[in-house]
Amino acid sequence: MSEDIFKKVVSHAKEYGFIFQSSEIYDGLSAVYDYGQNGAELKNNIKQYWWKAMVQMHENIVGIDSAIFMHPTTWKASGHVDAFNDPLIDNKDSKKRYRADVLIEDHCAKIEGKIEKEVTKAAKRFGETFDKEQFVTTNPRVLEYQKQIDTILQRMGKSLENEDLDDVKALIEELEIADPVTGSKNWTEVRQFNLMFGTKLGATADQAMDLYLRPETAQGIFLNYLNVQKSGRMKLPFGIAQIGKAFRNEIVARQFIFRQREFEQMEMQFFVKPGTELEWYEKWKETRLRWHQTLGLGNDNYRFHDHEKLAHYANAAADIEFKFPFGFKELEGIHSRTDFDLKAHEQHSGKKIQYFDNETNESYTPYVVETSVGLDRMFLAVFSNSLKEEVLEDGSERVVLALPAALAPIKAAILPLVKKDGLPEFAEQIVKKLRLDYNVMYEEKDSIGKRYRRMDAIGTPFCITVDHDSLNDNSVTLRYRDTMEQKRVHIDELHAIIDKEVNMKYLFEQL
Ligand code: GAP
Repeated sequence: MSEDIFKKVVSHAKEYGFIFQSSEIYDGLSAVYDYGQNGAELKNNIKQYWWKAMVQMHENIVGIDSAIFMHPTTWKASGHVDAFNDPLIDNKDSKKRYRADVLIEDHCAKIEGKIEKEVTKAAKRFGETFDKEQFVTTNPRVLEYQKQIDTILQRMGKSLENEDLDDVKALIEELEIADPVTGSKNWTEVRQFNLMFGTKLGATADQAMDLYLRPETAQGIFLNYLNVQKSGRMKLPFGIAQIGKAFRNEIVARQFIFRQREFEQMEMQFFVKPGTELEWYEKWKETRLRWHQTLGLGNDNYRFHDHEKLAHYANAAADIEFKFPFGFKELEGIHSRTDFDLKAHEQHSGKKIQYFDNETNESYTPYVVETSVGLDRMFLAVFSNSLKEEVLEDGSERVVLALPAALAPIKAAILPLVKKDGLPEFAEQIVKKLRLDYNVMYEEKDSIGKRYRRMDAIGTPFCITVDHDSLNDNSVTLRYRDTMEQKRVHIDELHAIIDKEVNMKYLFEQL
């Protein structure tokens, strides 16, 4: 069922100019994608929602844009050269390669599926009196499934932390996990694989310097901590944010844009006084969840997941997970990164990287709370959640991309009923005016019904139809995407009506 939905998401994204496989005419490049004309607009709107909410709406957060290339010692200091590995395992029969931890997590997701089945069954049985919270905390079968999941994940977390890869393999065998494609259980040992892409800087081979493509944008922030703090006269607590590309040589890149080899991150490092970091960590968890929920994709589609295995730099970490068509998966990470990164760069560079606290007259290394959300994952969350197939009253079907209006690539389509009698010219006048504030589109091809359907499919919240009466009374038919309601409005009212729905400021007001 959800696999079907996911297939529809992928094909809809292509058919309507949101996402294309990279280098498709050469049969594509695995796990690399291009954003098309509508995808680029939607992506930019998500960026804008994040940037304004995180940077411009906070007096103590500023934004930067650091380079992708960084001095190679950066990655030694950050621990990525030594520890940015994934445990991989090969299937000897199928020759397919997998992430060992993902195989185990997928096994747990199957058990979770059983819990969901129990919940659905019980909800049917008890009807309106059903209390889900009570059911999942008391039903013996659900509790047993949950215990299985917890035991498996705890053991995996411990083994990975202790670098005990033999035990990870033993766990796969004990759970009788099979190759998802072929069913074979003939596995190799588990090995570590570094995810960074290497490249070279310099014209001649012998003088070229080995570089990495950055696997996270965060290090560009750490390296600029002193520059920003001094030039911006920033006082703790303060944040530095940025949006940018990151690159990871993922072992198994799959699920469309969910796990790519080239992707974008929206990250913010919040520098705080040591000892206050866990309080800020809780605050940022709350703030970030509210940012997601304000988009209106359904509060039940989000949940926190505390990390079993902490990254080498963290003293607390949680994911905000989203219910994608393939289940709950990580959308954003919130990490309390201690002073690990600044201290490591201080050591490796030999430069003092500290903060002088005027109030206490002491210098110290700030602690850091990080929020990190994948832009492409945000895109997939918004896009997949918005794609709906509806059966209308007359029995016909329509496909509608019910995007949050503020994120829609095109806010309104202006459609002359016919291509003659002065209607196109009248419509063009409306386009000219609305274009100053919104991304709007003029469209005269096809019947009006077909044009409405096309606009529904790309998520345009409003269609404005110009007909012969418009020339006499300056009114047009305004059609709402979600309800398909149509009403006659004067052209002078258009701006205010559209603004109320699509202006992002109404989202910011709720944060
Ligand atoms: N600076 C911390 C950091 O990079 P992470 O959990 O590895 O933490 C943060 O990544 C976010 O980046 C993830 O929550 C996810 O949304 C996104 N992300 C990570 N790897 C990705 C990939 N291969 N493709 C798409 N998005 C990815």
